[in-house]
Amino acid sequence: MFPKNFLWGGAIAANQCEGAYNEDGKGLSVADVARYRSQIEVSDYKKQWEISKADIETAKLSQDVLQYPKRHGIDFYHRYAGDIELFQEMGFKTLRLSIAWTRLFPKGDETKPNEKGIAYYLEIFRKLKACGIEPVVTLSHYEMPLALVENNEGWVSRKTMECFERFARTCFQHYHTYVKYWLIFNEIDSIIRHPFTTAGIIEENYPDKRALNQALIQALHHQFLASAIVTGAAKEIRADSQIGCMLTRTLIYPHTCNPADIALAQVLNRLNYLFGDVQVFGEYPEFAFRFMKKQGVEVVMEAEDLTVIKNNPVDFVSFSYYMSLNASVEAKGMELASGNLAVGVKNPYLVANEWGWQIDPVGLRVACIDLYDRYRKPLFIVENGMGAIDEIGENGMIEDDYRIEYFKQHFLEMEKAIASGVEIMGYMAWGCIDLVSASTSQMSKRYGMIYVDVQDDGSGTYERRKKKSFDWYREVIASNGQSLHQL
Ligand code: BG6
Repeated sequence: MFPKNFLWGGAIAANQCEGAYNEDGKGLSVADVARYRSQIEVSDYKKQWEISKADIETAKLSQDVLQYPKRHGIDFYHRYAGDIELFQEMGFKTLRLSIAWTRLFPKGDETKPNEKGIAYYLEIFRKLKACGIEPVVTLSHYEMPLALVENNEGWVSRKTMECFERFARTCFQHYHTYVKYWLIFNEIDSIIRHPFTTAGIIEENYPDKRALNQALIQALHHQFLASAIVTGAAKEIRADSQIGCMLTRTLIYPHTCNPADIALAQVLNRLNYLFGDVQVFGEYPEFAFRFMKKQGVEVVMEAEDLTVIKNNPVDFVSFSYYMSLNASVEAKGMELASGNLAVGVKNPYLVANEWGWQIDPVGLRVACIDLYDRYRKPLFIVENGMGAIDEIGENGMIEDDYRIEYFKQHFLEMEKAIASGVEIMGYMAWGCIDLVSASTSQMSKRYGMIYVDVQDDGSGTYERRKKKSFDWYREVIASNGQSLHQL
């Protein structure tokens, strides 16, 4: 049974759906220089996000939107009203979306916001309200201003944090009557997997691995601190604001019952928990400092930093869940699996989607129980879904039974987690309307219940079309999950 006020809905991000990358005063963001990549071998998985200074220069000079698909997205910028009406038709109680920093502050360091940017999101929030949909808003979802990367070393610099605080306060001031739920950083842990997109760190700027690690740890500290500062600011402006951290929960299993595999999986899971620990408990776990010392790096802090972090923990824990991976001390030579920019040993009990992401519904239950036992805070599943190639049948229908089956199995496991005492605020299907893939910038990797007619080569009408999963999800929401148990 799902709780009475369970927030069913979907999630999108500005950089993957809005398009209109240079309209109404918007500045360039890190997403606007991300190139299209087709399928990449598991061993080369990191290439999906690699970017050099030369790539950035080339992108800046180019007006091309096809090579840089996040520049066109699905044209949500102009079509948001119709899309929100479709979400309403599906019965969404909530929509997670993000605000593009560069629409409000094109270069990031301006002191006054761009009024057109402010007005745009105000219109969206008004529309959501009119449709009875509660917004959950991410402030930073892979789209920091490019100018802050070039002039400031991204989040390595404390100045970026100050600019972010200004951006966040501006959002709270203008939107607080509409928005109660905020997520500060999408997948804050992703800084170790793709530092450019998450924190504006260009790897070639650092002479060696130690220097790069030092930059990463410093940028991460600034994000932890920013998260605490703006959590406090949100509550100053609206006392009942609810702030969540947002984690990637890629579960790591020991590949065998060899105690060494179990210990290795524990080390990797613990490293992943570090990101939640700081934001929930308000302090760095002791193992974090030991880990840094081992890497030869040290966080540079100002006197009050730890107190600010301590005094401003988050209210709930949100996370994305797509898959699990295995860890083995004998991984060399074993078949690997990867997904969401992580790599591990392939699990023989699981099947994977066309991009190699292992599908593991039971893992969602395990993740929920583990996170709740650790943090004792309400959980919010703000991303889950299956990237797949969808075909339009001769009857004009998209029969995405594979997606329905994926959701069904995950929902049933989520229900079991709730039955075992876990408090879950809601569930959001990632990319509830097809959008540009974060990692590869493909359109063909579709997650939605709503099909968007845009192809990898940029062709298409941008028309929206309901898939079979649209009506199926509508029934799940309308029956608050009861329909899952009907034959
Ligand atoms: C999450 C990101 O990690 O994974 C989303 O927060 C992203 O932005 C999603 O779209 C799925 O990844 P991809 O690469 O398939 O789009």
